[in-house]
Amino acid sequence: MTKDGKFEAIGVVGCGLMGSGIAQACATAGYPTQVAEVSEERLKPGLESIRKSLEKFQSKGQISGEQAAAIQGRLRPTTRLEDLAGCDLVIEAIVENLAAKRELFARLDGRLRPEAVFASNTSSLPITEIMTATRRPERFVGLHFFNPVALMPLVEVVRTVATDAGVYEQVVAFAASLGKTPVRTGDRSGFIVNRLLIPYLLDAVRALEEGAGSMEDIDRAMKLGCGYPMGPFTLLDFVGLDTTYYAAEIMYNEFRERRFAPPPLLKRMVLAGWHGRKAGRGFYDYRQPGPPRPVALG
Ligand code: CAA
Ligand code: NAD
Repeated sequence: MTKDGKFEAIGVVGCGLMGSGIAQACATAGYPTQVAEVSEERLKPGLESIRKSLEKFQSKGQISGEQAAAIQGRLRPTTRLEDLAGCDLVIEAIVENLAAKRELFARLDGRLRPEAVFASNTSSLPITEIMTATRRPERFVGLHFFNPVALMPLVEVVRTVATDAGVYEQVVAFAASLGKTPVRTGDRSGFIVNRLLIPYLLDAVRALEEGAGSMEDIDRAMKLGCGYPMGPFTLLDFVGLDTTYYAAEIMYNEFRERRFAPPPLLKRMVLAGWHGRKAGRGFYDYRQPGPPRPVALG
């Protein structure tokens, strides 16, 4: 950490859909970035997606080959949490599960300096509930990025009742240093975006179940009628049906309102392992080359 409170070394835990994008954003902004995963096998696809993303920016002339190489050079992949010991800020992006996140942060708490700041990229879990697994509640925030991180300019910065005001401003400044626009939000499940987005996505599944239209027509309607970049089923597949389902369950438990209750069809697709684009199949099938085809939902 510099004398004026700027973070110098960043750690990202989880190199899936979000962790890989967050690590890429940190390395692109010039931060040496440790990226931790559970296994080499899980690190590989995350690092590959970073390479492909940088290749896209390079092919469009937005970065040079040297810059792409320098960004990749700033990434330090690891499967050992000990390697994060020197980080000033650790951003967690593992599975949307309270017990898993608490266990991880308790382990990190014992390995990192007391001054280091912890952040969770959770979509819906209360930051307060994750934070209490550590002995640094005043140095714990939510830092919620959007998918795909390389293109989405927003970051929600979440403060709890315990967050130190100076630490919070440090994290807001960090989000801006990534070239993102930070918005400030309090610790309510779903923060700002998912509080509005998740009920919309769940409603699309209910509309399909109730026969309002075909999956493709519902997608088409919201794209062409409302100017959304993706229809709700394409977006569900993009976000991950598992992540959406876990987030909906958590938000339903927090607010006890029907609009957050995951519809049975979503639950069954998650149970079947149809997690969306990352699994090759969700509401659409991505396993063949060419445009994705809607799956038959029996
Ligand atoms: N890295 C670099 N470049 C990328 C990229 C990546 N990861 N992904 C796409 N691109 C590039 C493409 O190559 C393409 O470049 P060209 O125009 O030169 O061909 C360009 O970006 C646009 O991509 P596409 O043509 O594939 O598609 P698009 O025009 O529809 O844009 C999109 C893609 C920006 C993702 C857009 O569809 C979009 O904004 N979709 C909605 C995404 C959204 O809502 N995200 C939030 C999800 S909710 C969330 O994240 C929170 C949560 O907790 C669940
Ligand atoms: P994902 O399934 O793509 O990736 C999660 C990764 O975490 C996996 O690669 C897994 O191996 C790894 N992991 C699990 N436990 C670990 C541990 N103890 N240590 C290190 N790595 C571990 O999930 P995702 O979509 O990237 O979501 C990650 C988090 O980000 C979740 O909390 C989710 O709610 C949130 N989020 C997701 C989106 C989205 O659009 N998918 C958007 C914003 C926030």
